[in-house]
Amino acid sequence: MTANAEARNQNPGSDAAYRVLNAADLEGARGMRAFALDVLNGLSETPKRLSSRWIYDEHGSELFSRICEIDEYYPTRCEAEILRNHAPDILKRAGTDALDIVDLGAGDGRKTNIVLDRALKQVKDVRYVPIDISESAMAGLVAATGQKFPALKFSGIVAEYFDGLHWLSSTDDRKNLVLFLGSNIGNFNKVQARVFLRQLWEALNHGDQVLIGFDLKKDIELLLAAYNDAQGVTAAFNKNLLKRINRELGGNFDMSAYRHYATYDVFTGAVESYIVSLKQQRVTIRDLQSSFDFDEWEPIHTEYSYKYLQKDIDALASGTGFKIIEQYYDNNGWFTDSLWQVEKQSV
Ligand code: AVJ
Repeated sequence: MTANAEARNQNPGSDAAYRVLNAADLEGARGMRAFALDVLNGLSETPKRLSSRWIYDEHGSELFSRICEIDEYYPTRCEAEILRNHAPDILKRAGTDALDIVDLGAGDGRKTNIVLDRALKQVKDVRYVPIDISESAMAGLVAATGQKFPALKFSGIVAEYFDGLHWLSSTDDRKNLVLFLGSNIGNFNKVQARVFLRQLWEALNHGDQVLIGFDLKKDIELLLAAYNDAQGVTAAFNKNLLKRINRELGGNFDMSAYRHYATYDVFTGAVESYIVSLKQQRVTIRDLQSSFDFDEWEPIHTEYSYKYLQKDIDALASGTGFKIIEQYYDNNGWFTDSLWQVEKQSV
């Protein structure tokens, strides 16, 4: 046994010099602390902000699935059309015999299913590898996809995206096609998107491919309608942040005293979502042992949804080490799935 291994005794409560906590040791408590800490930080700032990543508890994910069905919310429909029309070509280019289809943020998996259905017919040896930080989301996805595609090889990974990807590319040399669909990249600002894609490049091997969904700049009325649907589902989705704070952190937000508001910033190219306080009020959050004061009409910023031009996408690819293989559009030209290849050839 090495000195390190001796000092680090696996047996808790013994005379070990120290103990290295693994993921299982840290689970649970950490997730809740991260949420609480982020809420404390965000509501203490001026202007107040809450991250859209916390919308997606069970209720929020369900509301997002409903948004995807709404007339005004075009991105899901556009991307489904793209995948139905072009999955054969996408898979032909990813091609070959053994292919891992790696899914980052599958959600309820409906769009992925279009690709998987095609892959089972077209690729000799396909394996589906969803990566998700949430074990319960993974369990649901495995059950649903397994039922839909009994013949599909399946190997989900519960991890942060890049941990999962690094592990995957170091443990086998099957070619990867990474799906990052739904314009999830739009939640990042342009700098964050670059950093994210460079990390993706790092975690992959030369020749691996990625398919990324970008929502395109378009008529502003269409953008605004998509984030202000008439049924108010997007409003409920956004305000689920407050509901979740009430539920999980013992908050006392009066849900009727706040409204959803979404607007488009023509300079940054982002739809920005807010929750606006309808009166002067104080909210108390028990688990934070804190109160927060709102002025009448004071906003909380909750989400950015960045929109792209084709030249932005070109610059993003070349600036992060990718080559664009093909650009797929819906018939309206509102949305694009961009197929990129990792370039790591030494010069
Ligand atoms: C899932 C992040 C792509 O920004 O369009 C939908 C989330 N927000 N309606 C988006 C969302 C309001 C969506 N993304």
